[in-house]
Order: sequence, then structure tokens, then C-alpha cells
Amino acid sequence: MEQKIKRIGVLTSGGDAPGMNAAVRAVVRTASAYGIECIGIRRGWQGLITGDFVRLSSADVGHTLSRGGTILFTARSEDFMTEKGRKKAVATCRMLGLGGVVAIGGDGTFRGALELSRLGVPTVGIPATIDNDVGCTNYTIGFDTACNTAIECIDKLRDTMQSHERCSIVEVMGRNAGFLALYVGIAVGATAVLVPERELNFEKDVVERIQDSRVAGNTHFMIVVAEGVGSAVEIGKRIKEEIGIDPRVTVLGHIQRGGAPNARDRETATRMGYYAVRAFAEGRANCIICTQEGGIVEIPIEEALAMKKHLQMIRYEIMEATQVGSHITV
Ligand code: F6P
Repeated sequence: MEQKIKRIGVLTSGGDAPGMNAAVRAVVRTASAYGIECIGIRRGWQGLITGDFVRLSSADVGHTLSRGGTILFTARSEDFMTEKGRKKAVATCRMLGLGGVVAIGGDGTFRGALELSRLGVPTVGIPATIDNDVGCTNYTIGFDTACNTAIECIDKLRDTMQSHERCSIVEVMGRNAGFLALYVGIAVGATAVLVPERELNFEKDVVERIQDSRVAGNTHFMIVVAEGVGSAVEIGKRIKEEIGIDPRVTVLGHIQRGGAPNARDRETATRMGYYAVRAFAEGRANCIICTQEGGIVEIPIEEALAMKKHLQMIRYEIMEATQVGSHITV
């Protein structure tokens, strides 16, 4: 098959996620294997506007597979939201002779990729965000590592909560989605998990769960709150008012985005990076590389952005059912 594409760009955009470097590495190495040159665009879409780039050879991405963060830096570009900014980005692509751009990030990144593709620059997206909130793919790079980081922190918190017989409120990230909170909540055996996808009934979801847990013999309680629900501090105040116990609040924050990617994130990122370049090499573009039912599929960007992924509420029921003192009403 005649190879049409000679050079591609790769960038990371939006919130960083463990495994982004593994994806960049796979893009660079696969491109090299296809005889395609790779240019790293630094600082996301902003770097495409300002012409902030670096040539990346296979050797340049050595020892990056296990590194957290992103060697290309990342940003949320206001300028790229404007027509003027996007025109500058297209001009940079033309000046660098880029036949396409691989954009690694979440929904916001893919909205940028769609705009760029509409201006004639072929793009391929790779989903990477700790939130796992990208509708077209059942998995986003970084989610598993972030869950494990949160679990490690909460296990430590539990030790001290147990010793002092306290209630702990832990706020986890996830933007407007509860994937991170629910997975983590199940994995730490939380007393209650609050997610934005479920309307909060404070009495039933928090007060009664703490009471039932206490009656069943527990003297410490772990409440996991997704940031999309609201402030964990406020939840803590309400618990104090309504039950009279004095909770300790921990906001895990950006620590969840750091650290070395785990096996799942390295492996998924490497596969996605490979498929992204393969799409370009075989003459396809303007799609997102997604995982669905164990395999990799390419979904056109516009279609992908319209797709919705729902939190499986059965997981919520499982979390509740596996708590000491829980009741299932049939
Ligand atoms: O999208 C990833 C994420 O970490 C969200 O979970 C969080 O809401 C947001 O980014 C935080 O963004 P920033 O890095 O701008 O504080």
C-alpha cells in the first residue's frame, strides 16, 4: 500500500493522566516503525498555536513508559476556542508539514480535534483522563491508576479513623461523573458513596447508612464523595448537625492524577497509541480510538462526542449490599 503520510504531530491536552507518556511513546515508536516522522507538540492545543514543538525519535521516548504526568506538558487552551487561534494552529500544522495530529486527552481535547479536522487537518484522538467520563469508550487511560492511588490513600486514612473511631469524608475527583468515586468506594468498602448521577437523599444515603453500620458494630465510617456532588466539607457539617459525630474531611485532589501508570494503563495506552498511528498509516483519520467489549474500535469524532456512557447503577447496589448492616428490599 502506498504510504501517504510522512509526518504527524502528537500532543497531550486537558488534565494529565497516568499513562499519557505511554501513549506518546507508542505513537512515536509505531510511527517510526511505519517510517512516519513524529513531532511532539508541547502544551496541548496552545502549543499548536504558538508553534511550541520538539522532534521526537524512538530513542527520545525511552524510559517514559513508567513515568506519570506528560513529557509534552499539557494545558487547557482558551485561544484554541477562538477562530483566530484555530487558524494559527492550522498554519503551524502546514508550516511543520504535519499530515495529521494525534490528540491525547478527554472530551474537551476531542472537541478541539473535531474543529481542527474541519479545518482540513486530519486528527485521531486517544482517550486519557482519570475521570473515565468519555462516552465513546468504556475505558480512558489513567482511570485505573487513579483508582489505585485513591484506594491507597483511603486505606491509610482508614487506619487512623479506625483507631480514633471516627467518620472520614473523602472527596475524590471525577469532574461531573461518579466513576472514580463508585469504583473506589466499592474497593475500600465505603459506608456510603455519593455520586452526581444519583439524587442525594441525605437521610437515607448518609444518616441511615452510618446508623445501620453503627448498629452492626462499626465504630468508624468512610464516606466517599465525588467532587461532582459538591463540597465534602458541607457533607461533613451536615453529618455533625444530624448525627452529632465530628467527621474529618480529606480532599484527595490532584494527588490522584500523579504517579507511575499501572499495568492496565501502560498496556491500554500502548495499544491505543499503536492503533492511532495505524489508522493514519492506512489512510484513515478523524476518529477516536476507543475500547469496547475488550477490543479497539475507531469511532468518527463527531459521533463519538455525541455518545453517552452511564454509571452502572448495579455497582451502586453492590456497594450498598456488601456493607455490614445493609438491607435489600425486594
Ligand atoms: O479531568 C480531570 C480532572 O482531574 C477532574 O477530575 C477535575 O475536576 C479537573 O481535572 C481538575 O482540573 P484542574 O487541573 O484544572 O484543577
